[in-house]
Order: sequence, then structure tokens, then C-alpha cells
Amino acid sequence: MFESTHYTERRHKLRQQFSSGILLIPGNSHASINYPHNHYWFRQDSSFSYFFGLNEADIAGVIDIDSGEDILFGDDPDIDEVVWTGQQSSFGERAAMVGVTTLRSMLKLHDVIADARRKQREIHYLPPYRGESILLLSRLFDCMPEQVQAGVSSSLIAAVIGLREIKSEAEIAEMESALAITKEMHVAAMRETKPDKFEYEVVGTIEGIMRSHDLQGAYPVIFTRHGEILHSRDHTQQLRAGDLVVNDSGVSSALGYASDITRTIPVGGKFSARQRAVYEVVLAAQETAIAAIAPGVTYLALHKLAALIIVNGLSALGFFKGDPQQVVDSGAYAICFPHGLGHQIGLDVHDMEGLGETAVGYDASVGRSPLFGMRNLRLAKPLRTGMVLTVEPGIYFIPELIKRWQAEGLHSELINYPRFAEYMDFGGIRIEDNVLVTANGARVLGPAIPKSCEEVEAVMAT
Ligand code: GLY
Ligand code: MN
Ligand code: MN
Repeated sequence: MFESTHYTERRHKLRQQFSSGILLIPGNSHASINYPHNHYWFRQDSSFSYFFGLNEADIAGVIDIDSGEDILFGDDPDIDEVVWTGQQSSFGERAAMVGVTTLRSMLKLHDVIADARRKQREIHYLPPYRGESILLLSRLFDCMPEQVQAGVSSSLIAAVIGLREIKSEAEIAEMESALAITKEMHVAAMRETKPDKFEYEVVGTIEGIMRSHDLQGAYPVIFTRHGEILHSRDHTQQLRAGDLVVNDSGVSSALGYASDITRTIPVGGKFSARQRAVYEVVLAAQETAIAAIAPGVTYLALHKLAALIIVNGLSALGFFKGDPQQVVDSGAYAICFPHGLGHQIGLDVHDMEGLGETAVGYDASVGRSPLFGMRNLRLAKPLRTGMVLTVEPGIYFIPELIKRWQAEGLHSELINYPRFAEYMDFGGIRIEDNVLVTANGARVLGPAIPKSCEEVEAVMAT
């Protein structure tokens, strides 16, 4: 946990943005795997973590704007729970660690919300994304679960995004602690990636490093020789010399902050000339986009810049014809780069996406593109100092997409389909780092993780 003042200050800044009413921020419950007492590892709701810090199930926070109180709802364990899960400090002692001294039983939450509803006070809550939270809200507001979403507060969503998207020094330090471990994971994976191994063996190494720090992944490990499948969850393939493997893996720090790093590795330890040529294009796109980051620049402009570097590089290799800018503007580039350049990262790997992807990534100045590929851009709005972003361009040869577009004759004046047909077995390349927007530009967070072809090959040789 951070010092208690972090949490009191965050709540103070939030309450300043409301003139009356109640802000209700429930924590998460346990999520069962196959019967009630067997549950997944616990993950607290990130907004609850941000404002109330406690990492335990079945508690809720209320910020009462009118009375000025911050209230935590929760209970001390009964003797049965102590027998099974051990004695802990009291709920009051833990609440004090996040600067809250007003406590109520979780059973009282219903009464407090019912009283506020009777008095027709405004009650603000964020969009729930788990069944248990939806059911809690449907009980509190006496409505069908399907009606809960309609009651979410757009003013609370906007206020929470405005605070959470600017990271403090303490948060940056926490994210860098996750990145130090992420470097261990990626370097070990480079060393373990050898012909004849199965993907899951290397995944075991990556996950073992996280667990050896008593941490869990920020998202399921992507480690695949089919890098053209953007978020493949399959780890069953045997590696063969000459394959490229995409390793997209990150960890959730002790305080729940994510890292999200991708490196692409040649099985056998050496990039072929064909692989290296495409790799250099992705790397140039990533480095050019990072160099262009500054407050006020829109992330949409960075996405288009990265797309242009990719098109320029691939035009030189014979994949596109015609005006590179037209290849970008028409959306033809998305045949090999069909995802967005990146997203915000923080407590969530796609930070705050539970509050609404558009609410987080767009504002009145930037609308979402309808184009295939470009419409997947999660972040488009102008950048602010203190934001942390991923920058993760990629080039993928997706046989189904290439064949479909060719059959439809899509952008055939701009795309050299016979050249793409030669790369159907290539796979994909993605390179991803986590970057802080600074007052003058940007800083790649964490220790340097081998990235150039030479650096990756040097690690694989040791
Ligand atoms: N690891 C998920 C992503 O890069 O967005
Ligand atoms: Mn990412
Ligand atoms: Mn990633």
C-alpha cells in the first residue's frame, strides 16, 4: 500500500469535483472457479484500489459529498473464517492505513443507499464488469441486473479518468518495479526459446518468474510462433528453427500496477535476412512514434505516423505501391497492422477500459475512425504530461485477411498482393514498451529490455 496520504488526497481531489450526493465505489468479490470456496486469485477493482487501497474482497467505499465523510463498509472475520484463513489485523486498523476512520458493516450498505434514495440524493457509481458487482448494484438499486448499466454516472467516470490517467511519482516507481521483473521474464524467455521446445515450457519459465516474486500476470501470457494471431492464448506448439515467436507478457506489481512488454524472438537465435528486414521496419515505427510523443500531441497522430513508417518500409520491400500517405489514409495499411498503436496503462493493463474504451481514449476533439484496423485504436485523444502509454506497432501476415481482401479486390491499386502471398508463413512481429509522457517529450519506463536484432541475438547466444 502507498502512504495513507496518497489515498486521502485522491479522495479529496475526487470529492472536489462534485457539489452534492454520494460516490459509491464497491470493491470486488472473489470469483469462483468451479464451486464457491475454490476461487481465482483475488484481484481488487482498480478504482477501489486507487481511492481506498485495501486489497480484500467484499468491502465497499462511499464518499459522501454532503457530510464530508469517507466510509468503508466491511466486517471483521468471524471465528470460522479465522480458523480457516488465520487471524489478521482488524478492519479498523486496515482502514486507518488508507486514512478512513468511519466504518460500517457491509450489511449496512443497503440501508445507507436506501436512505439516500429515499431522500432523492444523487448516487454516482462506475460501470460494473463482473456479475457479482452487477448483482450487488441491482440489489442496492432495486432494479433488474440488465438495468444497472443505465444508471452509471458519466460525471464520476470522467472525474475518475481525469485523476487516474495522470500518474504520480510513486505510481511510476511502482510501474518500474513491475518492469524490472518483466525484464527478467523477457530475458529468460529469450534464453529458453530453442528449437524443439514447446511454447508452454517457455511460458512456464515466464510465469515461474512472476510467481517467484509472489506476483501474477497483468494479463494472460501471449507466447506464440503464430504471432500473426494478435492475442493467441494457445501455447501448445513446438518451436522450430526459423520461427519467429511473439512474447507479449507483463506482470501485476505488488500494488496492482501493470507492465505490458512485447518482444519478438527468432527461434534458433538468429534473425534471417527476411525477418530482419521486416523487424527493422517495426522497430523504426516504434522508435519514431516514441520520439514524437509530447503533451498535446494526439495519440491518433502517433498511430498514423507509425502506420506511415510501416508503409514506407514495406513499400521499399515491395508490399505497397502508390502514395504511402494514401495507403495510410485509405486504411489499406491495416492489412498488416490491424490494431491500434497502444493504450494507456496503469492499474489495468488497458488502463480504465472498464470505465468505457471511448470515455478513456477519445474526447470531443477526436472521433473514432470507422476504418477497419484504425477503429481498433483504443487511445486517440491528446496526450497529457504524466500519462503512461504503451507503444506497440506490429507487422503481421494474416493469411485469412490477405486472402479475403484479395478476393474482394480491396485496395488492389495500393496493395501488391503477390508479394504478400510470398509471406503467408511469416507470422508476425510486435515490439511494445511502456512510455511516460513528460513535460518535454517521453521516457521509456523501466530498465532497457533487449530490443534491436543485435541485442536480442546477443542475449540468445548466452
Ligand atoms: N498485452 C495486451 C496488449 O498489448 O494490449
Ligand atoms: Mn499493450
Ligand atoms: Mn502487450
